[in-house]
Amino acid sequence: MSNKSVLDIIQNRRATPPRLFAKKEISKEIIERLLESANWAPNHKKTEPWRFKIYTGKAKADLAEKAYSLLKLKFAEGLQIAPEKMDKFKSTMERVPVAIAIVMQRDAGKRLPEWEEIAAVSMAVQNMWLRATEMDLGAFWGTPAFIDLFNEILEIQEGQKCLGFFYVGHIMVDYPSPGRGEIAEKVEWK
Ligand SMILES: Cc1cc2nc3c(=O)[nH]c(=O)nc-3n(C[C@H](O)[C@H](O)[C@H](O)COP(=O)(O)O)c2cc1C
Repeated sequence: MSNKSVLDIIQNRRATPPRLFAKKEISKEIIERLLESANWAPNHKKTEPWRFKIYTGKAKADLAEKAYSLLKLKFAEGLQIAPEKMDKFKSTMERVPVAIAIVMQRDAGKRLPEWEEIAAVSMAVQNMWLRATEMDLGAFWGTPAFIDLFNEILEIQEGQKCLGFFYVGHIMVDYPSPGRGEIAEKVEWK
């Protein structure tokens, strides 16, 4: 058991840019531990709307290649995408040991508003992120503006929405905290 308090872990959790990840694999067992934490997120009407697609090794290399080819094609067709963003996406995919596509599965009966399902998935991501921090791993939630272009490549089904990629890696260099403004400025005591 970690002797870090929950507050320590919350405050030490960083969005570590993947360029600061070490070139070292993350075991399947560690990924499973993160996913198990995700699965305990709160959710309304027990919809458990989080879905994850795990890309490592060849699957990740294929994804990077297919996604990059598609971006280049769309760019050639006139879509406004900054070439450096396309390159950054590809190099990130190639660098990280694991890329987890974060997917929201809409309740079939639409018994709750979409935002509640996005909120539940976000809490699942935070659970993984805190657990990664507890294990001294770096993590990053990337939300490229062109993510919807990848729906087919990622095999996103009807009623699902990809909310970006969660990247995990061993930290090579610590990234500084941007800090936070005072909580008192965001609170009204009535
Ligand atoms: C929903 C969501 C999406 C994010 N997408 C990106 C992103 O696309 N690119 C990025 O640089 N950071 C992204 N971030 C990470 C934030 O930039 C980061 O959390 C913020 O800078 C605060 O740093 P910290 O998390 O280390 O305290 C995202 C965070 C969240 C919650």
